[in-house]
Amino acid sequence: MTCGERPGSTRSMPAPSPGQNDEAAIAKVTELFPDVLSGHKVVGNGSKWISFTTVRNAKWRKDNLVLIGDAAHTAHFSIGSGTKLAMEDALALAACLHEECSVDAGLTAYEAERRPVVQSTQRAAQASLEWFENLGQYTHQDPALFAFNILTRSRRVTHDNLRVRDPEFTQAMDRAYARSLGAAEVRPPMFQPFSLRGLTLRNRVVVSPMDMYVSVDGFPTDFHLLHLGGKALGGAGLVMTEMVCVSAPGRITLGCTGMYAPEHELAWSRIVDAVHEQSSSAIGIQLGHSGRKGSTRLMWEGIDQPLEDVEANWPLVAPSALPYKAGVNQTPRELTVEEMAEIREQFVAAAVSADRAGFDLLELHCAHGYLLSSFISPITNQRTDSYGGSLANRLRYPLEVFTAIREVWPADKPMSVRISATDWLEGGITGPDSVQIAQAFADAGADAIDVSTGQIAPEEKPDFGRSYQTPYADAIRNQVGIATIAVGVISSWDDVNSLLLAGRADLCAVGRAHLYDPNWTLHAAIEQGYDGPGAPWPLPWKAGARAPQTGRTDGPKPRLQLAREGARETGHARWRPNRNSGP
Ligand SMILES: Cc1cc2nc3c(=O)[nH]c(=O)nc-3n(C[C@H](O)[C@H](O)[C@H](O)COP(=O)(O)OP(=O)(O)OC[C@H]3O[C@@H](n4cnc5c(N)ncnc54)[C@H](O)[C@@H]3O)c2cc1C
Ligand SMILES: Cc1cc2nc3c(=O)[nH]c(=O)nc-3n(C[C@H](O)[C@H](O)[C@H](O)COP(=O)(O)O)c2cc1C
Repeated sequence: MTCGERPGSTRSMPAPSPGQNDEAAIAKVTELFPDVLSGHKVVGNGSKWISFTTVRNAKWRKDNLVLIGDAAHTAHFSIGSGTKLAMEDALALAACLHEECSVDAGLTAYEAERRPVVQSTQRAAQASLEWFENLGQYTHQDPALFAFNILTRSRRVTHDNLRVRDPEFTQAMDRAYARSLGAAEVRPPMFQPFSLRGLTLRNRVVVSPMDMYVSVDGFPTDFHLLHLGGKALGGAGLVMTEMVCVSAPGRITLGCTGMYAPEHELAWSRIVDAVHEQSSSAIGIQLGHSGRKGSTRLMWEGIDQPLEDVEANWPLVAPSALPYKAGVNQTPRELTVEEMAEIREQFVAAAVSADRAGFDLLELHCAHGYLLSSFISPITNQRTDSYGGSLANRLRYPLEVFTAIREVWPADKPMSVRISATDWLEGGITGPDSVQIAQAFADAGADAIDVSTGQIAPEEKPDFGRSYQTPYADAIRNQVGIATIAVGVISSWDDVNSLLLAGRADLCAVGRAHLYDPNWTLHAAIEQGYDGPGAPWPLPWKAGARAPQTGRTDGPKPRLQLAREGARETGHARWRPNRNSGP
């Protein structure tokens, strides 16, 4: 049985003891709804604020005993799904026992069928639970946007779902969003421009930083020119480079790019110029140092594995002498304060070069267990000097690096910081810590926090799923008041519109979906029937600015297909009432 982690708790109301009425709530309701009550008293029933326990069982069966419904799993009742799950369990169990030739096989099939459906519902319920527990962080919202926020709190209901049900409502929401931004025009939320310092992005889609591992001696190659240039033509407002390393030993692999030689600056400026000249995208650089996760193979040759040629491995440095994978990766040397100052100056030199190369934004990589991230996490930082211990101490070095860069990075150019908002590990960074981390960078002058998670240690247990990191961006944005970039399995334009409108983020970074479709943003515009500002098709491509005929019918779907999809949606696609193929 486990209880989910909270991204950031703002609950301040003391819970009344069991059996007592919540007199404060009764008084508040009386004050808020005098018209409805017309002088009647609000009567308490001794109901309690309880901390909901999400039941998760590693196994749902033992021999011929099986768990179904609440005994197997619970999902917070604010999404109203417990009865449905219990009924579907019963249907699936009956179907599997009919279809399989033994009780054993039937129970195995039942669990295999139901577990993913239940996990998906539990994720949605957890998001809803956390939404209510952190309600205080949304009280500043425009009432219309608050309404959208509550409707989409589990992230299952989206902008487009709501449009199908009530187009006038979503049109009103798009208007409210434009109004809240002081924007001149109503557009799909993702196509509203966004400004940070002197930089205005044409839309709110970011190509997430993605290491391509094809650099030679730290130089970006023609592959990078085509890759980043292609993404810029594909319509995103901001294209981020991969993590660009501030020194040769600070690379993750021999295929990682760098900004530690004058020639690197020149090579990068060629790419930046191409993006600026050929598109209206902005281009940002992500600067980082690999720390204890360095000296490894290219992604497709064995991620996080040391180089096969033992001689070619280079020594690693980190806040503490702890290897990433004991027995696999080498043990790094604990950095001295003098060496830390040296690396800080490498970051500064790289930032100066990045400015000269023409980059529009600089992101400091403080996530994923690389050097700066490993200072922040208590899992990887076990120093006993003033750079270890409390969170404030662990943040000291990353903040020193940030501040030193901010001093040389032009005042009109923005800086973002990518963080891991949770380590997904007992004793590691948690959601509430990430709010403090974001606050510290905001106080130091950061303009946006790019909110990722994990990758600190191989034992992590991430709760992967659609837009699974967004609650952390949400908590940071609404508690710290700094712009956030949400990232992580945000693959549809509908999710982007929904997250922006609900106020969970200011920008959405899309990674792998951009590798699948470099023209992701242009296609999103076509699919929404939008051809206004923020989604400019390159003029030479204009002739292709419509969805091609694929041979698929766009007309009404046959009834059988709808029935199947409905069944799959409710998770009992295998239930065929008249079929009896069991033993
Ligand atoms: C406040 C609240 C609001 C909710 N709102 C919703 C909602 O809006 N929509 C929704 O779908 N779900 C909602 N739920 C969840 C829903 O009620 C449960 O998920 C659902 O009832 C689970 O069904 P079940 O058959 O697994 O368990 P239960 O309904 O709990 O049934 C288990 C039964 O087993 C009996 N029992 C227990 N031990 C024994 C024993 N030893 N011998 C014999 N019998 C035993 C119990 O008395 C009980 O009758 C809500 C739950 C709560 C608490
Ligand atoms: C091939 C690849 C390389 C990546 N390289 C980086 C990187 O250099 N810096 C970084 O911060 N994140 C990196 N990431 C993580 C992505 O930026 C992004 O956070 C992650 O893929 C989740 O987003 P997605 O689900 O949209 O892909 C990389 C991801 C992929 C798939």
